[in-house]
Amino acid sequence: MKPIIDILSERIINAMADATGQADCDAIVTPATDSKFGDYQANGVMALAKKLKTNPRKLAEQVVEKLDIADICEPAEIAGPGFINLRLRAQYLGEKVLEMNADTNRLAVDQIQNPKTIVVDFSSPNIAKQMHVGHLRSTIIGDCICRMLEFQGHKVIRQNHIGDWGTQFGMLICYFYREHGDRLKNGNLKVSDMSIPNMEDFYREAKRLFDTDSDFASESREYVVKLQSGDHQILGIWQLIRGQSIHYCQDIYWRLKVDLEEKHVKGESEYNDMLPGVVEDLKEHGKAKESDGAICAFPEGFTNKEGEPLPFIIQKTDGAFLYATTDLAAIRYRVGQLKADKIIYVTDARQALHFQMLFATARDAGWAAEDVELMHVTFGTMLGADNKPFKTRTGGTVKLGDLLDEAVERAKAVVEAKNPQLDDDKKAEIAKAVGIGAVKYSDYSNNRNSDYVFSFDKMLAMEGNTAPYMQYAYARVRSIERKAEAKGVDITGDLKGIRTVNLEDSAEKELAKHLLRYSEAIRDALADCRPNFLTTYLYDLAQKFSTFYNACHVLGADESQRPTRVLLCDLTARTIKHGLRELLGIEVVEQM
Ligand code: ARG
Repeated sequence: MKPIIDILSERIINAMADATGQADCDAIVTPATDSKFGDYQANGVMALAKKLKTNPRKLAEQVVEKLDIADICEPAEIAGPGFINLRLRAQYLGEKVLEMNADTNRLAVDQIQNPKTIVVDFSSPNIAKQMHVGHLRSTIIGDCICRMLEFQGHKVIRQNHIGDWGTQFGMLICYFYREHGDRLKNGNLKVSDMSIPNMEDFYREAKRLFDTDSDFASESREYVVKLQSGDHQILGIWQLIRGQSIHYCQDIYWRLKVDLEEKHVKGESEYNDMLPGVVEDLKEHGKAKESDGAICAFPEGFTNKEGEPLPFIIQKTDGAFLYATTDLAAIRYRVGQLKADKIIYVTDARQALHFQMLFATARDAGWAAEDVELMHVTFGTMLGADNKPFKTRTGGTVKLGDLLDEAVERAKAVVEAKNPQLDDDKKAEIAKAVGIGAVKYSDYSNNRNSDYVFSFDKMLAMEGNTAPYMQYAYARVRSIERKAEAKGVDITGDLKGIRTVNLEDSAEKELAKHLLRYSEAIRDALADCRPNFLTTYLYDLAQKFSTFYNACHVLGADESQRPTRVLLCDLTARTIKHGLRELLGIEVVEQM
C-alpha cells in the first residue's frame, strides 16, 4: 500500500500540471497541524503562483477544479492565501484498514523500490577498555537503524568495528601474565585453556596497576612491542583476551536484544595488512605528505583557528598507524569488497570532525565515489542526575551489565504494584521485558543529538512516553481479547468475517488514520536516522487508542459496529508489537 501522503501528492501534482501546463510541480503535502482543517494540507500552490506571477488563491481554485480526488477525500477546501485542505473519507479509510489487516506480516508497509547495500558501523567498543554508556547508545541506535532499513528491504551489512589493536593491550597482557604466568611457564598449560572469569574486573585491575605501578607500566610497553612484532605466545594471549571480550559484549547484545553477532565483528586488527598500502597510495597520488615527521592528508576545507590547513594524520613519526588510517582501509574494504552504496557510522558527536575529514580524504582518494553515500549519525551524552556525564555514585564508569541488572530489579517493583497476584516466573519475565525495554525506549525517545539525563524513575513511569506505558497499552488490548473469551464474544469470528469497516465515531476515524500512517513514520524516522520519530508515532497511537477505547464500547457494541472496533483494537496491538519488537528490539508482554 502506497503511503496516503504519496497518493495525495500525486493527485495534486497532476492537478497542478493540468491547471497550468507546468511540469515538475511540487505539491508539498504535510499532515495537517490542526485536525479542524482536515487531515492533510497541500502547500505547493503558493510557490507555483509566485513562479507564474499569478494570484495564489485563484490558482488554488483552478487546481482544485482539476483535482481528481473524490474517491479518497471529501471536497477539498481552500484556506488562507492558497492552502488546500484535505479530509479523508471514512469509506476510503475503511478500505485501507482492511488492506492493512490483510497483510499479516508487513501491515501494508511496502518494500522500497530500489534497495541498496548499506553498511552500518555501530557499537564498535574498544575492547581493551570497558564498554561504556556511550557504546550503549551507539549499539541500540545502530541496531534500530539496521532493523528499519532491513524492513524497508535494503541489504544491510552490520559491522562491529571493535578497537582490538593497539597499545592498550600491553597492560592487559601484562596483567594476564601476573595472574596466570606461573602456570603458563611451569606446566604444559595452553593459553587457550585459561579463562578470564570477570572481564570488567580484569580491565579495571589492569588499568589501576598501569596507572600506579611504574614497573607494570614499562613491562606493559614491552608487551606491546612483542605483540606488534608477532610473538606467538603474546599473540595467543591477545587472542584469548580479545575472544573473551567479544563474548562479554555478545552477552550484553543478547540481553539488549540487539542483532549483533560474532560474524559481524570486523575489528581494527583485521585491517592491519592494508595500512601500509593506504599510506603508500595516498602519498603516491599526492594526497598525503610529510609534515613535522608525520604523514598527513590535508583534505580541502579544513583549517585551524589560524586558517592553516588541518592535518589528518595517517602515520606517526615513529611509523605507527592511527585510527584514521584504519578507517580509510575500512572504507576501501566496504566500498571495494562489500559493494556498499551507503555507509552509516554511529558514534557520539565528539567524533564529528574525524568523520568529516575521513569522508573528505576518502572521496579525494577516489575510494568513495560521489554515488556512495557516507553518513555520520551522531548522538549526545547520557548524563547523570547531576547533569554531568553518567558515572557511578563513586565517580567510576558504569558497568553496562550492572545497569541492566538494576533496571530489571527496579522493574520488578513496577510489576509488583500493577499485578501482585501473578506468579513469580511471570513477574520475572515481565520485569525483564520492562526493565531492558525502559532503558532502550528512553534512549530512543530522545532526539538523538540531545544530551539526556538518565533516570530510572522517569523511564519506568507508567505514564508518559515510556516503555512500560507502551507495553501496557499493548497488554491492555490483549486483555480485551481475553475478556471477550470470558464473555463468550466471538472476536476471532469478527476478525475473520469482516468485509467492510464502518468508521462512524470521530475517535474511530482518528485511530484508523493514525494506523495508516505507520509507513510514513518509518520513512520519516529513516530519513535522518531518528528513532524518536518512531517512538513518537507509537506513543500517539497508544494515546489515540486510549481516546477511542474511552469513547467507544468494543465488546458491548452493536453487532454491526463490533467487528470494526475489534479490528481497530487488533491492528493497534499488531502495530505496537511490530514497532516495539521488530523495529526497536523491545519485548512486548501479553499481560502486565
Ligand atoms: N572504537 C571507537 C570508539 O570507541 C568507535 C569506532 C567507530 N567506528 C569507526 N569506524 N571509527 O570510540
